[in-house]
Amino acid sequence: MTAKEKLKDRLELSLSGDTFVRLTLSKPRDASSDLKKLIVKYVFIKEKPHLSFTLRYTRKDITKNYTLNDGLEQVDDLLGETFFNGNLMTTDADWALETNTGGKSKFIEKKASISAVPNRSHDKAKPVHFTSEQFLVELGVLDNKGRVLKDKGDKFKQINKFVEIVGAHIAKTDLKSKDKIRIHDMGAGKGYLTFALYDHLANKSGLPVETTGVELRPELVTLCNDIAKKLDFDGLQFGEGFISNYELVETDVLIALHACDTATDDAIFKGIKSRAELIICSPCCHKQVRKSMKVQDRHADILGHGILLERQAEIITDTLRALLMEAHGYKTKIFEFVSTEHSGKNLMIVGQRRKDFVRTDGHMNAYQKLKEEFGVEQHYLEGLLQDI
Ligand SMILES: C[S@@+](CC[C@H](N)C(=O)[O-])C[C@H]1O[C@@H](n2cnc3c(N)ncnc32)[C@H](O)[C@@H]1O
Repeated sequence: MTAKEKLKDRLELSLSGDTFVRLTLSKPRDASSDLKKLIVKYVFIKEKPHLSFTLRYTRKDITKNYTLNDGLEQVDDLLGETFFNGNLMTTDADWALETNTGGKSKFIEKKASISAVPNRSHDKAKPVHFTSEQFLVELGVLDNKGRVLKDKGDKFKQINKFVEIVGAHIAKTDLKSKDKIRIHDMGAGKGYLTFALYDHLANKSGLPVETTGVELRPELVTLCNDIAKKLDFDGLQFGEGFISNYELVETDVLIALHACDTATDDAIFKGIKSRAELIICSPCCHKQVRKSMKVQDRHADILGHGILLERQAEIITDTLRALLMEAHGYKTKIFEFVSTEHSGKNLMIVGQRRKDFVRTDGHMNAYQKLKEEFGVEQHYLEGLLQDI
């Protein structure tokens, strides 16, 4: 048997035995071809088995569904003719057909990298924003049957809402017509939102998105990069480091969700400095401004209470952030993006860069007035922005 025959044999066995996870054909024979990859999934459409093909081009994805026989014929035609390599994932093992530059192919068996078959139902409405539930399974939000895990309900809501909001904001800009939309997620953590946004924009909406998550914890960076690779999320990567040290030359959309305290300011600063079209952040804890506030006598009745001072400091911190963004050419709005029932940290600041903005001295007036009113001696973001 040739390597190709072996792979086809395993493919047919995995479909009949329901152990099939995914087939990927890659390494186009014509290196200059716009078609880069084919990802095949096994799905049921109107209760009939089909192979769903995602043809990944440089700038878009095209999906086609075939009956099993037609789909297998297509794979037979494409493997060797159009693509040199094939990678079959099943719950028993992974098999790869690799062809070297001399045209010699080998067939390799590896340990299964995914232990459960994905949801086969193509007709199911959920999840609306994503092409696959697999990243949510890998990240521990859904179980293998696609059910939300017990303690992940709030996270699941937050992910969906976040993707909806960012998607809608991007849709209102000119970014859709760009050749590449660069997104940076600062303080990406376990990457829930980074993966979700990437899948929604690149896979579901077919936008030419390149996304980078920046995170200081190396173990999370490794985990996220491994999952992105496993799922063929080609335009998604994670880098290790502090936001403040991250060399961000250019970006179109900068997001930061619950980056701790002044890490949110570091992120906003990076966004302003790189002239991001959109800056979207949901602040986390607010310590810096509270520590630098001198409570004025006229506010003593209110701010003499620790909890009220804390809440007021949060409001002032975020208002000052928005005013600084305004002073640097961003039209801002602040709103609750999920209900407080799902997260206390539910404020979102969105800034969209104004076209033809010319800065004047007057732009800092509102900011200075508010600082004086509440005796704020220093705002970390203001310090960062001093030289811009
Ligand atoms: C509360 S988590 C939020 C994670 C993610 N954005 C989300 O909403 O699911 C904050 C993450 O930011 C990271 N972080 C905090 N300060 C950072 C900094 N200065 N630079 C890079 N990452 C930072 C933390 O390690 C943590 O993983």
